[in-house]
Amino acid sequence: MVTETKRRTRCGGRPTTIRSLATYVPPRVLSNADLEKMVDTSNEWILQRTGIRERHLVDPGVATSDLAAHAATDAIARSGLAPDDLGFIVVGTVTPDMMFPSTACLLQHKIGAHRAWGFDLSAACSAFTYALTTASQIVSTGAHEHALVVGADVMSSIIDYQDRSTCVLFGDGAGAVIVSAAAGPDDGAILDFEHEIDGAGAPALCMPAGGSLNPPTHETIDRRMHYVKQDGATVFKFAVRKTEEIARRVLDRNGLTPRDLDLFVSHQANQRIILSATEKLGVDPAKVIINIARFGNTTAATIPLALNDAVASKRLKKGDLVLLASVGAGFTVGAVLVRWGF
Ligand code: UT7
Repeated sequence: MVTETKRRTRCGGRPTTIRSLATYVPPRVLSNADLEKMVDTSNEWILQRTGIRERHLVDPGVATSDLAAHAATDAIARSGLAPDDLGFIVVGTVTPDMMFPSTACLLQHKIGAHRAWGFDLSAACSAFTYALTTASQIVSTGAHEHALVVGADVMSSIIDYQDRSTCVLFGDGAGAVIVSAAAGPDDGAILDFEHEIDGAGAPALCMPAGGSLNPPTHETIDRRMHYVKQDGATVFKFAVRKTEEIARRVLDRNGLTPRDLDLFVSHQANQRIILSATEKLGVDPAKVIINIARFGNTTAATIPLALNDAVASKRLKKGDLVLLASVGAGFTVGAVLVRWGF
């Protein structure tokens, strides 16, 4: 019997590939200068400690499914498919439009994907890698030919703009890819994946109220418990260690070294986390994409936003080997190895 550790890749079944990609950010920009007027912070501190210059925020009334619909509609159009070709939709988000129904249901209706089923996936900043793996596995079994994967968050709906330690970090955005069965080696492939959870990390990054543990009350509102709470230093250290560790594990299992990669795409939480983890891993900095300056941390959307920039700047081309890696609240950890298909 082939054991987990001896098996060369976790991907069984038929090959799958990313067939198209699209992203969306709302037009309104919140700059570091704007934040200087809101909390006791400075452009210098934010830039030096995080690498962020600006982030995009929604206007009131715009929800996660709206951003997701923009990205999904473009991704479907670029794939050459029609909404009815989709069999499955997974939306990674920690900011669903509402507790229920799922954002996947709302999105399915908005884009007219009448034959798809699907659900939301909660893995915070690892939601895109988790959702990509989930869709890839569903397509690889033969259950569906085409799946829509979305990472979308309206972080501004759960950020406390009186808390300088978190409000400078986050932005809103969405990214979508179509995962399809690969017709041949020329199509690219989702080659391997690795994921972990570690619930011991829950107190370090969470939104304490609004769920079944602390349902909304006047007291939870007064105590500002419906906002993101973070122990930044704990999350920082875990993110650096785990980004390197999970990336190395996937590379080792596939007989690869960082030199074999054409591009390394990390979740974008802090420029210093990405630089530190990739230096430890030994990836050539020229192969690391960092676009946090323009978007901040958009949680489930950072990896597709970075992939989109890489494609647009021709740093990611058909046939390239790209490793995606993420660490987020939970803790959640993920990595996906991809041969780029377009
Ligand atoms: O994607 C989800 C996962 N999230 C992350 O990966 C985030 C991980 N953590 C981080 O990125 C960093 O820990 C932060 C950016 C959140 C904080 O950076 P840091 O270098 O760890 O700063 P710190 O929390 O140790 O704070 C250093 C100082 C403190 O002042 P004192 O106590 O030294 O006087 C903070 O009060 O910086 C102060 N500070 C600020 N100063 C100006 C914290 N936030 C700010 C701010 N502006 N916005």
